[in-house]
Amino acid sequence: MNVVLNGLSRHYRTVSFDAATNAVVLIEQRMLPHQFQLVQTADYRETAAAIRDMIVRGAGAIGATAAYGLAQGVRAFRGSGLAAFEKHVARVFQALADARPTAVDPLNAMRGVLAEMQAGETVAERQALALAAAEEFAHENVNNCRAIGQQGARLIRHGMTVLTHCNAGWLAFVDIGTATAPLYAAQARGKRFRVICDETRPRCQGSSLTAWELAQQGIEHRVIADNAAGHLMQRGEIDLVIVGSDRVLGRTGEVANKIGTYTKAVLAHRHKIPFYVAIPLSTIDWTLESGEAIPIEERDADEVLCADGLLLHPQSSTRNPQSGRRVQIRVANPTSRALNPGFDVTPPELITAIITPLGLFKPKDLWPHLHSLTSQSAARNPGRT
Ligand code: MRU
Repeated sequence: MNVVLNGLSRHYRTVSFDAATNAVVLIEQRMLPHQFQLVQTADYRETAAAIRDMIVRGAGAIGATAAYGLAQGVRAFRGSGLAAFEKHVARVFQALADARPTAVDPLNAMRGVLAEMQAGETVAERQALALAAAEEFAHENVNNCRAIGQQGARLIRHGMTVLTHCNAGWLAFVDIGTATAPLYAAQARGKRFRVICDETRPRCQGSSLTAWELAQQGIEHRVIADNAAGHLMQRGEIDLVIVGSDRVLGRTGEVANKIGTYTKAVLAHRHKIPFYVAIPLSTIDWTLESGEAIPIEERDADEVLCADGLLLHPQSSTRNPQSGRRVQIRVANPTSRALNPGFDVTPPELITAIITPLGLFKPKDLWPHLHSLTSQSAARNPGRT
């Protein structure tokens, strides 16, 4: 992603690795859009905490972070005994896997790293293979997002208004994003369109992160309160919806995504607006048999009961957000408690198609394509709706 800071444009990845210091390097997403900072995690426990506390968030980004965190933990092992090494690897894996439960990308990414490590005969060989595999996952994540852009760009026509929910953009992946990839590819093809960003309460990833990304990218957009989408759809002001996902069930076509996605899918269905879900293949869970079995993260009640933001300096005539400091204020009745499920599950009949790097699939058509979607030859045999 190209970020403009102090008038200079520079390319950053959301997640990267510094092999010299054995550190995972992350964009501090909790400070955006007000401040752009990079942070480094010193060990795998700090990396797991960065995922849990949402310094880094978004399925693909936490997948890459978990893969790097596993390599980081593996590389920190001192000794040459394989039995002790494997116990250590299992501890690191579990700490990272437990950080956030709903997205399947971290599990898929780390399982890929573990599989690659098996080719090593010594601890040192396995340590080197772990980092190479994590780098490969990150690299593939970028390539997959680019391919999603090429597959999805044809859905965006000149003059359209596209609704998106939460942030499935650069910041939710290593680069480019999934729901945003068709937008960026369409922009590169010279198409002009407008994006509506759902604010996405309670953490406001839409108004803070997606809106910031689109502004950096020079794409016309508006932020709306989550409750405004139905009204806009009823008035014919939304042509298309594209969202990302944290876990798509390959067997059923059910889609787990940020809370509120299901509501938007129901509304889109009612108004006959096409509803697409853009994902890399690492977001597919081929094992679970029902959406009810997806672990839905229950997050801190304060996310719902309070609002966070930057306090604008009262004397600042320009109301420059850089001048303020981050604060949390209580909005809800002081004695009330909250429910805060982080994700919901959208059934396949509400989804027009899943945009993958290999083509567009009806949700129910993923399972019949299990073999081609999971084999190396898939790239040469793209599926179609
Ligand atoms: O809680 P978050 O911000 O990590 O939620 C994940 C998401 O960003 C969304 O659900 C997104 O739409 C899909 S992840 C690419």
